[in-house]
Amino acid sequence: MATAPLPERARQTLMEKLVSLAKRRGFFFQSSEIYGGIQGVWDYGPLGVALRNNIKRSWWRSMVELRDDVVGIDAGILMNPRVWVASGHVQNFTDPLVECKKCHQRFRADQVSGPRHESDGGEFTEARQFNLMFKTFMGPAEDSSTQVYLRPETAQGIFVNFANILNSTRMRPPFGIAQIGKAFRNEITPGNSIFRLREFEQMELEYFVPPADEMKWLDYWKEQRLEWYLALGIKREHLRLRAHGKNELAHYARGAFDVEYEFPFGWSELEGIAARGDYDLDAHQKASGKDLTYFDDLIRERYLPHVVEPSAGVDRSLLTVLIDAYHEEQVRDEQRVVLKLHPSVAPVQVAILPLSRKEPLIATAQAIEHELRPFFRTEYDDTQSIGKRYRRQDEIGTPYAVTIDFETANDQSATIRSRDEMSQVRVPLTQLKQALQERLH
Ligand code: GAP
Repeated sequence: MATAPLPERARQTLMEKLVSLAKRRGFFFQSSEIYGGIQGVWDYGPLGVALRNNIKRSWWRSMVELRDDVVGIDAGILMNPRVWVASGHVQNFTDPLVECKKCHQRFRADQVSGPRHESDGGEFTEARQFNLMFKTFMGPAEDSSTQVYLRPETAQGIFVNFANILNSTRMRPPFGIAQIGKAFRNEITPGNSIFRLREFEQMELEYFVPPADEMKWLDYWKEQRLEWYLALGIKREHLRLRAHGKNELAHYARGAFDVEYEFPFGWSELEGIAARGDYDLDAHQKASGKDLTYFDDLIRERYLPHVVEPSAGVDRSLLTVLIDAYHEEQVRDEQRVVLKLHPSVAPVQVAILPLSRKEPLIATAQAIEHELRPFFRTEYDDTQSIGKRYRRQDEIGTPYAVTIDFETANDQSATIRSRDEMSQVRVPLTQLKQALQERLH
């Protein structure tokens, strides 16, 4: 059945509402906005950077710190250009590009619907392959010998350090190397706010395994990665694992899955999980002339490990977390917008709000905020009416607010208000920390 026009419109407006909330509350803004912006680059504001750091921390915790078999690295964004020849990116990291002969606008050939530009009828040129890597120059001379690339993925920084990690740690296959960092792609058509960017951040793991075990580990990692999104609070029914068809697979790939999310603009990739064989290590071994094999002294065999790669995007995860958390609710005759963010990623976990701007409320509330600060991400706010402050905390996804009122001085208690149920409970100040810990952890 065709999609009915109304839900389609509603879905479109959800994106618009979210981008507007992101700007109004300080999650993200278009880069260089006062100069008219720059396509495919967004800047994160105070709440955005907090949410982003929480997502990255959660990934690092689950992929590196809580495991015995994964170590981290942080490689440079600029690399020897031979890396990108060996990896195949110079030759193959391309999208097909067509240009309208009338207005000279350029499009990805697989995203146009016919031989002519819909808006002006101009004929499209033949498709040509357009390389997505950004180029720059290293050092004071600008010529082809000094040309370098901004990395289009963090993965190659891991492969070229494989021998360094083997030699400097006690890691033995199966083991992984993880990295979080910026990547750059000159996308022909960036869009959907922070979904498709030209500057973005990746969270990648290269997991090195004995060749015979590759498919077993692909299976393992696809399940693990799905679990991670669920732990961030994403609803199960909005997530799916999609196996790549034969004609979608890179020629070296043994199998691949995408973790997909049902975005307002349709099911789209959140993360790719691929069994890459020994393609990368083999390519770098040949091109560099360095031995990248591993000698397993238990079975007395030397081999080139195979790789399973779960590769996620920070920005896409953040967009997903926001979309999934966004709710509009009717409360009496008012509409309430609430971000039901999981407490582990919420930029603010506890807001401390004096009921009015009078003493001794302010001093008490500030003292409580200082006491809670080492244990939770807190925020003190005494501006505007209490109703408006609750609305703001709902909109930025703060799970709990602690309200200090005129009774507090008498009964040494405060009210904990829950974002989701809007229920309120009175708690003695001495038990506040524990009561919040029970609710948040
Ligand atoms: N090393 C493998 C690799 O880079 P990819 O599927 O091209 O694989 C992995 O990228 C993830 O990086 C994607 O699933 C997505 O989350 C993120 N990503 C890729 N291109 C992006 C872009 N232009 N904007 C935002 N995120 C992007």
